[in-house]
Amino acid sequence: MIVIGGSAHNGIGQSLAKILGVKFYEVEHKVFPDGESYIRIPMDVMGEDVVVVQSTYYPQDKHVMELLLMLEALNALMVSNVTAVVPYLAYSRQDRRFRHGEALSIKVVLQAIRHSGANSLVVVEPHHPDALAHFEGDARIADPIPELASALKGINDPVILAPDKGALDRAQRLAKALGADYDYLEKSRDRVTGEVSLVSGPTEKLRGRSVILVDDIISTGGTMVLAAKASYEAGAKEVIATAVHGLFVSDNTIERIKAAGIKRIIVTNTVPQTSPHVEVVDVSPSIARKL
Ligand code: R5P
Repeated sequence: MIVIGGSAHNGIGQSLAKILGVKFYEVEHKVFPDGESYIRIPMDVMGEDVVVVQSTYYPQDKHVMELLLMLEALNALMVSNVTAVVPYLAYSRQDRRFRHGEALSIKVVLQAIRHSGANSLVVVEPHHPDALAHFEGDARIADPIPELASALKGINDPVILAPDKGALDRAQRLAKALGADYDYLEKSRDRVTGEVSLVSGPTEKLRGRSVILVDDIISTGGTMVLAAKASYEAGAKEVIATAVHGLFVSDNTIERIKAAGIKRIIVTNTVPQTSPHVEVVDVSPSIARKL
């Protein structure tokens, strides 16, 4: 087996190769003056079992396209098997047609990955596990909860809080890993404006305790801010936010989260981070467990 890192492997390729004890190579890539991507696999890969790592954070379309180009090139070089490791899978939140006439984005992305030549796929904690059913091959989900739990050890008697019902399973897994209690909120999102509001929760459990919010994604930060406010209103002593994928889409997202009284922000390296306020956990061990 060999590991090849694409333009957006964010260090996960090297780390994964080290854990697996295999060679790591970087793909050759550049952008033409008109904005189109160029990809070349510069080494001999014929007959190899190749793991290609490419996250698909912003600019998502470019990173998805570069992944497809790598897959095409690898297949033309007669590799024996290709596993696409996509730590952050773009478009995974559009996994249903919420409104009439919407595109099923995740289906398009997964079919393109498959048709470009990936036999297998590993994704770190997609928005909903069922979304991977659109990949017509072997699809596996890497669970980074043990890695996040390690970063959260030492907090006395915390309550793990899911900021919406969709995050409940994740909260239960983190609670189990930490031997902690859990609770959940119910939120609703306006499908047109994207505004989130609280429907119900939390319970009395939070009073006087450290609350650890856990979600799959922090995008605008609206969900975490809403959940932090609700936690403090319910008597929480402190609030910590953890998520798998830290997108932090606008310049002031982290400031808004801090201003809501969130003491620590912990995410994984599926998306690159630059803020000193964000703690980053390596997901490579969770991916290695799936290979
Ligand atoms: C939605 O259901 C997801 O699980 C996250 O809660 C959401 O993507 C977070 O987005 P934002 O940070 O913009 O509230």
